[in-house]
Amino acid sequence: MFDRVIKNGTVVTAVATYAADVAIQGEQIAAIGQDLAGREVIDAAGKLVIPGAIDPHVHLQYQLPRFRSADDFYTGTRAAALGGTTTVIDFVEPKPAQRMVDGLAARQAEADGRVIIDYGLHMTLGPHEIGKLEQVAEAYAAGCASFKLYMAYGMRLTDDQLLQALQAVRDVNGLPVVHAENWDVITTLIAQNLAVGRTEPRWHPRSRPALLEAEAAGRLMDIAGYVGTRVHIFHISCAEVVARLSEALRRGQPVTGETCPQYLMLNDGVFERPFPEAALPVCSPPIRTPTDQQRLWRALGQDVVSIVTTDHCPFTRAEKTAVPDDYSQIPGGVPGIEARLSLLYSFGVRAGHFSANRWVDMSSTRIAQLFGLQKKGQIAPGYDADLVIFDPEKEVTLSTETLHENVDWTPYEGVTVTGWPAITLSRGEVVVQDGECVAQPGRGKFIKREF
Ligand code: URP
Ligand code: ZN
Ligand code: ZN
Repeated sequence: MFDRVIKNGTVVTAVATYAADVAIQGEQIAAIGQDLAGREVIDAAGKLVIPGAIDPHVHLQYQLPRFRSADDFYTGTRAAALGGTTTVIDFVEPKPAQRMVDGLAARQAEADGRVIIDYGLHMTLGPHEIGKLEQVAEAYAAGCASFKLYMAYGMRLTDDQLLQALQAVRDVNGLPVVHAENWDVITTLIAQNLAVGRTEPRWHPRSRPALLEAEAAGRLMDIAGYVGTRVHIFHISCAEVVARLSEALRRGQPVTGETCPQYLMLNDGVFERPFPEAALPVCSPPIRTPTDQQRLWRALGQDVVSIVTTDHCPFTRAEKTAVPDDYSQIPGGVPGIEARLSLLYSFGVRAGHFSANRWVDMSSTRIAQLFGLQKKGQIAPGYDADLVIFDPEKEVTLSTETLHENVDWTPYEGVTVTGWPAITLSRGEVVVQDGECVAQPGRGKFIKREF
C-alpha cells in the first residue's frame, strides 16, 4: 500500500504516452503500473499526468538600481506552482568584495522560508568575479552547477573576460548560461536615438537589432567552441540566432538555447501602441517580428531551440512608466512565470507545432538534464514526486484577475488558453488544488545541482 496513488490518468513523459497509475511513497515516485493501491487516491480521469514544469530562468525580488522585481520568492513560487511549475532556478549576484559562496548563502537566506516549491541558483560571473575565478569550483561544489555570464548591461564581460569565465566554468564541468547581445552597438544606437529626440519605446527594438543579437550569440559560440565548453544561450528572440544555433548544432557543437513565451506569443507591434502600453513589454532582447515568432515555434518543433523558460522579471505599470521620455530607462522584463505550461500546450501542442511529449521535454525533462537537476523532470521510480495533473480541456482567460503574479499587468491579457493544471504536487505533497495554493511558504528546498 503506497502513501498516494494517482489513478485513471494518462501519463505523458518526454518519450511516451500511456494509461497508468503513479504511486508515491514519501517524497518520491515509487511505482508506475496498473491497479496500484494507496492510502490516498487522486483521481486523474480525463487528465494528463506529467512531470512538474521546471523554469530555469526567473528573476524573483531582483534588485535593479531603482526598482526591485515585483514577485518575491513567496508570490513568485506560488504563481509558478499554480501554473504547474515545481522547480525554479534564480540567480546569485555576489557583491564586489563578497566570496561567491557567501553571495550564495545570502541569496538562499532570502529564498528559504518563503519558497513554495524547490529552487536552484545560477552563480553570476560579472566583471568583479573575473579576479576570483578560483572560487568557481567552490560555488559548483555548493550546488551552483551553472554560471551566468552577461554580454550586455553593466555586468557585461568583455571578450577577454568572457574567455576566462568560460575556461573557468569548463574546468569544473559547469554549464555557462549567457545573455548574448552586442552591448557596444546597443549603447551607441541608444545614444544616437536619444540625441535626436527618439525617446519612445518603439525605438527599443530598433536599438537592439536581431542581427547583432545573432552576432553576439555567434561570437559566444565561437569562443565557447575554442575553449571547449558547452554553452546555453538565454532568451533567443529571433530567426538570426536560430540560424547560428542550427549551424553550430550541425557542426556537432554542444550548444543549447531557450526561448520564452513573450517571443512566441507577442510581436513588435506591441511597441507601436500608445504610451504607456508600449512601455510595458520592454524586455531584452526585444520582442521581434511575426516572422521571428513563426521561426521560433518551428525551431522548438525541430529541437533546434531545446527548451522554453520564462525570464520572469515583472515590474509594475508605475515602474515601467516612471521615466516617460527615455525608453532606455524602462526596467526590462515581463511577467510570465504562471502561464508558460498552458501557453505552450494551447498554442504549441494544440496548434500542431509539436507533440505533447515534446511539450513535456521542453518544459521539464530536458531542463532537468541540462541544468543538473538529478531527481527532477521524469516520471520514474526514485525521482521526486513533482507532478502535475493537467486538465487538457480547461479553458482559462488570462488576466491580472485570473493570474497570481504580484503585478498589475500581464502581456497575455484576454488570451484564452485551453489546458490548465488541476493539481500540482511537489515532492509528494499537494501544493495546488483546483486553483488554490494550499502549501506553506518555506516548504520548498534549495536543490544542489551537479553534472
Ligand atoms: O529584459 C529582461 N529580459 N530583463 C531580465 C533580465 C535579463 O536580461 O534576463
Ligand atoms: Zn538576459
Ligand atoms: Zn533573465
